[in-house]
Amino acid sequence: MIRSMQAASQRSRPAAAWCRGLALSVWLALASAAGPALAMPDTHVSNKQGYNTDVIYQVVTDRFVDGNAANNPTGAAFSAGCTQLKLYCGGDWRGLQNKIEDGYLGGMGITAIWISQPVENITAVIDYSGTNSTAYHGYWARDFKRSNAAFGNLTDFSNMIAAAHAANMKVIIDFAPNHSSPADAANASFAENGRLYDNGALVAGYGSDPSNYFHHHGGSTFANLEDGIYRNLFDLADLDHNKAPIDSYFKDAIKLWLDLGVDGIRMDAVKHMPFGWQQSLMSWIHGYKPVFTFGEWFLSANEVDPANHYFANKSGMSLLDFQFAQKVRQVFKDGTPDMVSLNQMITDTAAQYAQVHDQVTFIDNHDMPRFHVSGANQRRLEQALAFTLTSRGVPAIYYGSEHYMTGTGDPANRARITSLGTGTTAYQVIGKLAPLRKSNPAIAYGSTQQRWLNGNVYIYERNFGSNVALVAINRDLSNAANISGLVTALPAGSYTGTLNGNNLTVGAGGAVPTFSLAAGAVAVWTATPAISTPIVAHVGPVLGKAGNTVTIDGRAFGATKGTVYFGTTAVTGTNITSWEATQIKVKVPAVTPGTHGVSIKTSGNVTSNTYNAMQVLSGPQVTVRFVVSNAFTTSGENIYLTGDKFELTNWSASAPLGALFNQVVHAYPSWYTDVSLPASTAIQFKFLKKGPGGTVWEGGGNHTYTTPASGTGTVFVNWQN
Ligand code: NOJ
Ligand code: NOJ
Ligand code: CA
Ligand code: CA
Repeated sequence: MIRSMQAASQRSRPAAAWCRGLALSVWLALASAAGPALAMPDTHVSNKQGYNTDVIYQVVTDRFVDGNAANNPTGAAFSAGCTQLKLYCGGDWRGLQNKIEDGYLGGMGITAIWISQPVENITAVIDYSGTNSTAYHGYWARDFKRSNAAFGNLTDFSNMIAAAHAANMKVIIDFAPNHSSPADAANASFAENGRLYDNGALVAGYGSDPSNYFHHHGGSTFANLEDGIYRNLFDLADLDHNKAPIDSYFKDAIKLWLDLGVDGIRMDAVKHMPFGWQQSLMSWIHGYKPVFTFGEWFLSANEVDPANHYFANKSGMSLLDFQFAQKVRQVFKDGTPDMVSLNQMITDTAAQYAQVHDQVTFIDNHDMPRFHVSGANQRRLEQALAFTLTSRGVPAIYYGSEHYMTGTGDPANRARITSLGTGTTAYQVIGKLAPLRKSNPAIAYGSTQQRWLNGNVYIYERNFGSNVALVAINRDLSNAANISGLVTALPAGSYTGTLNGNNLTVGAGGAVPTFSLAAGAVAVWTATPAISTPIVAHVGPVLGKAGNTVTIDGRAFGATKGTVYFGTTAVTGTNITSWEATQIKVKVPAVTPGTHGVSIKTSGNVTSNTYNAMQVLSGPQVTVRFVVSNAFTTSGENIYLTGDKFELTNWSASAPLGALFNQVVHAYPSWYTDVSLPASTAIQFKFLKKGPGGTVWEGGGNHTYTTPASGTGTVFVNWQN
């Protein structure tokens, strides 16, 4: 079979040392020897859900390629040579299409592109302390139902999507529903006053907002989560998603872009929007057209935030994996701390994220200094890329990394791409490793275990059934490392590293004789024998409701339709809409709302592992704000909410919703939270106090409320003693 042939061909490849200077020619030799075996075709490009086999390329659209000079802004908004980095530079969707069609992206193994928010932005030029600034980055929206003319019109957008799909490439849009554009509460003529339009019709401006579609609570101090959600992010006019017209505006807007063929969403500033509204938005998206969605929740170096994990585990979207990024930067870019802490991050995040394989890994982006520092050894970047491409998660590579672009902060980290050549070692490293995500399920879906570790050397193994990828990285660029006592799950035999030298001999029981790992080495040794027992590798989306379509990826499902289980509930027949050896599409059955493991049984009655776990909601969702007044607490005590629905934690006293907020929209002794709940449903609920003294239930009978059929709702009650 293809996989065993591949293992054999790897064994016969020549040994090669990945020394600087030799790297390129060595790589080319390997590429031609390996070509067809490694590039196993992905038969599931049409599956827009799971991205585990993909590699994402993040572009700042304006800074990539100018394919149409006619759409460039004119006058003060434009910098012809892209020397003024806060002005428009001309990049557009036609330019992206050109680089899709000429193979620049595909040649690097890229299978998905993440582009700047495509919606119409303000055209005002803002003078911030003497520097003219524009919306070239796409984060200053004025009309989410129109396109940014500097990037192109909707035909250009559709053409770019069609070109991407023809090249088996997915398109992810940035989407920023937290805010419109900059506004100054004291000066309505500043910029465009945050004015929001609905396909050309004015909805509201920050200074003329009779229905309070915007929050008017001042700018955030970022003191706590609540402050960052309900106050303005810097000077960006902050939208109130608890207003039904705003809620429906964003559902209609995202529908428009999904209908144009978008395959994924990068959700901006998710830390700054209510959790409940975002969960109901994701429920809506997954009921309409399930697409992989990942949010931006910025974490600083060494920051570990349980609220970030809760969001990733419950909201229906993944997150950009800032814990991963910050640690990789510390270890490979800054040289401190060491490989032991890199392994610790991998272990920690595997426990913290319920779907760690769905978090989006990266090493830099437009909001942090670029990874490569002028004068630094380029091998550091190459090692960080290799680590990211062979680790759990969905890798996203920031444009220009392949050309070792530098830039220490906004906007220097967003310069126009410096080259479109394909000859750099970084370009070739990406191009060599990216296809392994499709050919070796251990890299796409496998567990991770540490096999050999010291301050400079990390040898880790990815395992999926009998498939293995063993990766060895020596961070020390001057000294080889003596590796003794290494044990691997690779079958006995000899292996040639996929990236660079270091032949590996594996003896009985996986014992590897002592060998020397070259200075600065990155070696990947793989085995992909055929898998014969069914394994569920991935389920997505993991939030939804009965009737939604869910995609199950894995191996050895067999050619004929078997059974899918949600918990113990069997799904058969026409409720399984497609069944192939590596992918099943199934309709979620009407199980008891809650969290259910997903497993399959082949037509030959062989049962798979159980994939944990899918949240099955009670039905179509609306967002409801709960406000409880006169809830007095003692020091360290907070108010929580629970009730008789899964979405209300089914009367959980140990893990209810909360803590509720009590400062910005409503203030102590009032407390509030926004919750995603089933529409048109009678609910019962109560609040609790939790603190150092334990848990105190509210007295009296249960509160009752019937949720609206659509839109949003608010319910006010008094705390019952
Ligand atoms: C995070 C984005 O990545 C950043 O670039 C942007 O300025 C803010 N969100 C506001 O949209
Ligand atoms: C415990 C609460 O105290 C009570 O009020 C509520 O009715 C029940 N949970 C529901 O089971
Ligand atoms: Ca242009
Ligand atoms: Ca907000």
